[in-house]
Amino acid sequence: MERVQFTAMIDGSPDDYRLLEEMEQQHVEGLPERILSALTSLENGIGGYQVTRLEHSLQTASRAEDDGADIEWVVAALIHDLGDDLAPLNHAQFAAAVIRPYVRAEVTWAVEHHGLFQRFYYAHHLGQDRNGRALYQDHPYYDACVNFCERWDQASFDPSYPTRPLNHFAPKVLEVFSRPPFDAGPVADLDSKPVC
Ligand SMILES: [Fe+2]
Ligand SMILES: [Fe+2]
Repeated sequence: MERVQFTAMIDGSPDDYRLLEEMEQQHVEGLPERILSALTSLENGIGGYQVTRLEHSLQTASRAEDDGADIEWVVAALIHDLGDDLAPLNHAQFAAAVIRPYVRAEVTWAVEHHGLFQRFYYAHHLGQDRNGRALYQDHPYYDACVNFCERWDQASFDPSYPTRPLNHFAPKVLEVFSRPPFDAGPVADLDSKPVC
Protein backbone atom coordinates (compact mmCIF):
# COMPACT_ATOMS: atom_id res chain seq x y z
CA MET A 1 0.00 0.00 0.00
CA GLU A 2 1.21 3.48 -0.84
CA ARG A 3 2.40 5.35 2.25
CA VAL A 4 3.55 8.81 3.25
CA GLN A 5 7.24 9.67 3.50
CA PHE A 6 7.15 11.45 6.83
CA THR A 7 7.54 10.19 10.38
CA ALA A 8 6.38 13.48 11.94
CA MET A 9 3.48 15.48 10.52
CA ILE A 10 5.50 18.68 10.43
CA ASP A 11 7.73 17.13 7.73
CA GLY A 12 4.88 16.04 5.43
CA SER A 13 4.72 17.18 1.80
CA PRO A 14 1.70 18.22 -0.30
CA ASP A 15 1.84 14.78 -1.98
CA ASP A 16 1.75 13.09 1.42
CA TYR A 17 -1.32 15.02 2.46
CA ARG A 18 -3.08 14.53 -0.88
CA LEU A 19 -2.54 10.79 -0.46
CA LEU A 20 -3.92 10.86 3.08
CA GLU A 21 -6.93 12.90 2.03
CA GLU A 22 -7.73 10.33 -0.65
CA MET A 23 -7.42 7.46 1.83
CA GLU A 24 -9.53 9.25 4.39
CA GLN A 25 -12.25 9.77 1.81
CA GLN A 26 -12.27 6.04 1.07
CA HIS A 27 -12.46 5.37 4.79
CA VAL A 28 -15.43 7.72 5.20
CA GLU A 29 -17.22 5.91 2.34
CA GLY A 30 -17.02 2.71 4.40
CA LEU A 31 -18.94 4.27 7.31
CA PRO A 32 -22.38 2.79 6.54
CA GLU A 33 -20.89 -0.74 6.58
CA ARG A 34 -19.11 -0.06 9.87
CA ILE A 35 -22.33 1.30 11.40
CA LEU A 36 -24.17 -1.90 10.45
CA SER A 37 -21.34 -4.00 11.84
CA ALA A 38 -21.33 -2.05 15.13
CA LEU A 39 -25.09 -2.50 15.41
CA THR A 40 -24.68 -6.25 14.97
CA SER A 41 -22.30 -6.34 17.92
CA LEU A 42 -25.05 -4.87 20.16
CA GLU A 43 -26.47 -8.40 20.12
CA ASN A 44 -23.92 -9.14 22.88
CA GLY A 45 -24.45 -5.87 24.77
CA ILE A 46 -25.96 -5.15 28.20
CA GLY A 47 -28.17 -8.00 29.42
CA GLY A 48 -31.15 -8.21 31.78
CA TYR A 49 -33.86 -6.98 29.43
CA GLN A 50 -36.34 -9.24 27.62
CA VAL A 51 -34.73 -8.20 24.34
CA THR A 52 -31.09 -7.79 23.31
CA ARG A 53 -29.69 -4.32 22.73
CA LEU A 54 -29.76 -5.02 19.01
CA GLU A 55 -33.44 -6.03 19.19
CA HIS A 56 -34.15 -2.90 21.26
CA SER A 57 -32.45 -0.75 18.61
CA LEU A 58 -34.32 -2.45 15.77
CA GLN A 59 -37.60 -2.11 17.61
CA THR A 60 -37.02 1.58 18.35
CA ALA A 61 -36.42 2.13 14.63
CA SER A 62 -39.43 -0.03 13.70
CA ARG A 63 -41.70 2.01 15.97
CA ALA A 64 -40.38 5.24 14.48
CA GLU A 65 -41.09 3.88 11.02
CA ASP A 66 -44.58 2.72 12.08
CA ASP A 67 -45.26 6.26 13.28
CA GLY A 68 -44.45 7.58 9.82
CA ALA A 69 -41.25 9.27 11.01
CA ASP A 70 -38.84 10.45 8.34
CA ILE A 71 -35.58 8.71 7.44
CA GLU A 72 -33.48 10.84 9.81
CA TRP A 73 -35.59 9.85 12.81
CA VAL A 74 -35.63 6.17 11.79
CA VAL A 75 -31.86 6.00 11.45
CA ALA A 76 -31.40 7.99 14.66
CA ALA A 77 -33.67 5.54 16.45
CA LEU A 78 -31.62 2.67 15.06
CA ILE A 79 -28.25 3.99 16.21
CA HIS A 80 -29.24 5.82 19.43
CA ASP A 81 -27.68 3.18 21.71
CA LEU A 82 -24.61 2.53 19.57
CA GLY A 83 -22.37 3.83 22.36
CA ASP A 84 -23.52 1.25 24.91
CA ASP A 85 -20.28 -0.74 24.66
CA LEU A 86 -17.61 1.93 24.23
CA ALA A 87 -19.19 4.84 26.12
CA PRO A 88 -21.46 3.20 28.72
CA LEU A 89 -21.48 6.34 30.92
CA ASN A 90 -22.26 8.79 28.10
CA HIS A 91 -23.68 6.60 25.36
CA ALA A 92 -26.16 9.22 24.16
CA GLN A 93 -23.42 11.73 23.38
CA PHE A 94 -21.47 9.00 21.58
CA ALA A 95 -24.35 8.26 19.19
CA ALA A 96 -25.01 11.97 18.69
CA ALA A 97 -21.40 12.48 17.62
CA VAL A 98 -21.74 9.68 15.08
CA ILE A 99 -24.90 11.02 13.44
CA ARG A 100 -24.34 14.78 13.84
CA PRO A 101 -22.76 15.40 10.38
CA TYR A 102 -25.63 13.75 8.52
CA VAL A 103 -28.95 14.89 10.02
CA ARG A 104 -30.71 18.08 11.11
CA ALA A 105 -29.93 19.57 14.50
CA GLU A 106 -33.27 18.56 16.02
CA VAL A 107 -32.53 14.88 15.47
CA THR A 108 -28.98 15.07 16.79
CA TRP A 109 -30.24 16.94 19.86
CA ALA A 110 -32.81 14.28 20.67
CA VAL A 111 -30.21 11.52 20.35
CA GLU A 112 -27.75 13.47 22.49
CA HIS A 113 -30.26 14.06 25.29
CA HIS A 114 -32.22 10.80 25.20
CA GLY A 115 -30.21 9.37 28.10
CA LEU A 116 -31.35 12.18 30.40
CA PHE A 117 -34.93 12.16 29.10
CA GLN A 118 -35.20 8.37 29.49
CA ARG A 119 -34.60 8.82 33.23
CA PHE A 120 -38.19 10.08 33.47
CA TYR A 121 -39.34 6.46 33.15
CA TYR A 122 -37.19 4.87 35.86
CA ALA A 123 -35.07 7.19 38.03
CA HIS A 124 -37.78 7.57 40.71
CA HIS A 125 -37.71 3.80 41.25
CA LEU A 126 -34.10 4.20 42.34
CA GLY A 127 -34.84 7.14 44.65
CA GLN A 128 -33.44 9.59 42.12
CA ASP A 129 -34.82 12.65 40.31
CA ARG A 130 -36.79 11.65 37.22
CA ASN A 131 -37.27 15.24 36.07
CA GLY A 132 -33.77 16.14 34.93
CA ARG A 133 -35.28 16.79 31.51
CA ALA A 134 -37.08 19.84 32.99
CA LEU A 135 -33.78 21.68 32.61
CA TYR A 136 -34.59 21.84 28.89
CA GLN A 137 -38.37 22.40 29.03
CA ASP A 138 -38.13 25.68 27.09
CA HIS A 139 -35.73 24.30 24.50
CA PRO A 140 -37.12 24.20 20.92
CA TYR A 141 -36.29 20.49 20.63
CA TYR A 142 -37.67 19.46 24.04
CA ASP A 143 -40.93 18.03 22.66
CA ALA A 144 -39.08 16.12 19.94
CA CYS A 145 -36.91 14.41 22.52
CA VAL A 146 -39.89 13.63 24.76
CA ASN A 147 -41.62 12.09 21.76
CA PHE A 148 -38.52 10.09 20.79
CA CYS A 149 -38.32 8.60 24.26
CA GLU A 150 -42.04 8.17 24.97
CA ARG A 151 -43.17 6.64 21.69
CA TRP A 152 -40.05 4.81 20.51
CA ASP A 153 -37.20 4.33 22.99
CA GLN A 154 -38.83 3.54 26.35
CA ALA A 155 -41.47 1.35 24.67
CA SER A 156 -39.05 -0.85 22.73
CA PHE A 157 -38.36 -3.69 25.11
CA ASP A 158 -41.22 -5.91 23.93
CA PRO A 159 -40.26 -9.31 22.48
CA SER A 160 -43.69 -9.60 20.83
CA TYR A 161 -43.51 -6.38 18.78
CA PRO A 162 -43.21 -6.91 14.98
CA THR A 163 -39.63 -5.72 14.83
CA ARG A 164 -37.92 -5.54 11.44
CA PRO A 165 -34.45 -7.08 10.92
CA LEU A 166 -31.28 -5.07 10.39
CA ASN A 167 -31.19 -5.66 6.63
CA HIS A 168 -34.57 -3.89 6.37
CA PHE A 169 -32.91 -0.70 7.62
CA ALA A 170 -29.63 -1.08 5.71
CA PRO A 171 -30.72 1.08 2.71
CA LYS A 172 -31.68 3.92 5.06
CA VAL A 173 -28.35 3.64 6.90
CA LEU A 174 -26.56 3.76 3.55
CA GLU A 175 -28.53 6.79 2.41
CA VAL A 176 -28.05 8.88 5.56
CA PHE A 177 -24.39 8.04 6.18
CA SER A 178 -23.50 8.63 2.52
CA ARG A 179 -24.77 12.21 2.55
CA PRO A 180 -22.37 15.11 2.14
CA PRO A 181 -21.35 15.70 5.77
CA PHE A 182 -22.30 18.96 7.45
CA ASP A 183 -24.31 19.88 4.39
CA ALA A 184 -26.39 23.02 4.80
CA GLY A 185 -29.54 21.04 3.96
CA PRO A 186 -29.84 18.30 6.55
CA VAL A 187 -27.79 20.05 9.24
CA ALA A 188 -29.51 23.20 10.45
CA ASP A 189 -27.36 26.15 11.43
CA LEU A 190 -28.26 25.60 15.06
CA ASP A 191 -25.98 22.59 14.93
CA SER A 192 -22.88 24.67 14.48
CA LYS A 193 -23.64 26.73 17.56
CA PRO A 194 -23.90 25.59 21.18
CA VAL A 195 -27.55 24.98 22.01
CA CYS A 196 -27.87 24.72 25.79
FE1 LIG B 1 -30.02 4.92 25.37
FE1 LIG C 1 -32.61 2.89 23.94
